[in-house]
Amino acid sequence: MKIHAIERIWLIVGGAMLVLFLVLLSAAAFGEGLMPPGDAGRVDPQKLAQDPRFATPGLKALSAGHYEVDAVARMFTFQPNQIEIPRGAEVKFVVTSPDVIHGFEIAGTNVNDMVVPGYITEMSAHFDKPGEYLILCNEYCGAGHQAMMGKIVVK
Ligand code: CUA
Repeated sequence: MKIHAIERIWLIVGGAMLVLFLVLLSAAAFGEGLMPPGDAGRVDPQKLAQDPRFATPGLKALSAGHYEVDAVARMFTFQPNQIEIPRGAEVKFVVTSPDVIHGFEIAGTNVNDMVVPGYITEMSAHFDKPGEYLILCNEYCGAGHQAMMGKIVVK
């Protein structure tokens, strides 16, 4: 089979670009130790009931003005579904999932991350303005995805 010279050059250039791309991708993934976006450790998604944080999800006081919200994102709701937070609070959200990948976004704040089964995701926010904040799932997770939401009430 005869391959035209220009065709051969393009095959070599295309192949070289593909190899370069894979080398750079591997260097970034392995060299920098890229992991799924659960940055706060691991948990067995089948044993959330035995984990004190996720067996009783909700708002927990850490110290004056500092709180932790332990939450479970599952098809198709958040536990707890409504969270009351005192105004001025600094809140750490600790979230995991027992089933599939969900999103955890609090509209109007900087909280927006993926929740991956088996991994714990941590995010922090400060709530100065009283009012209601919508919690949204922004990763498609199944037939009820569009109904998966919760609410934060800051008083
Ligand atoms: Cu959970 Cu979409």
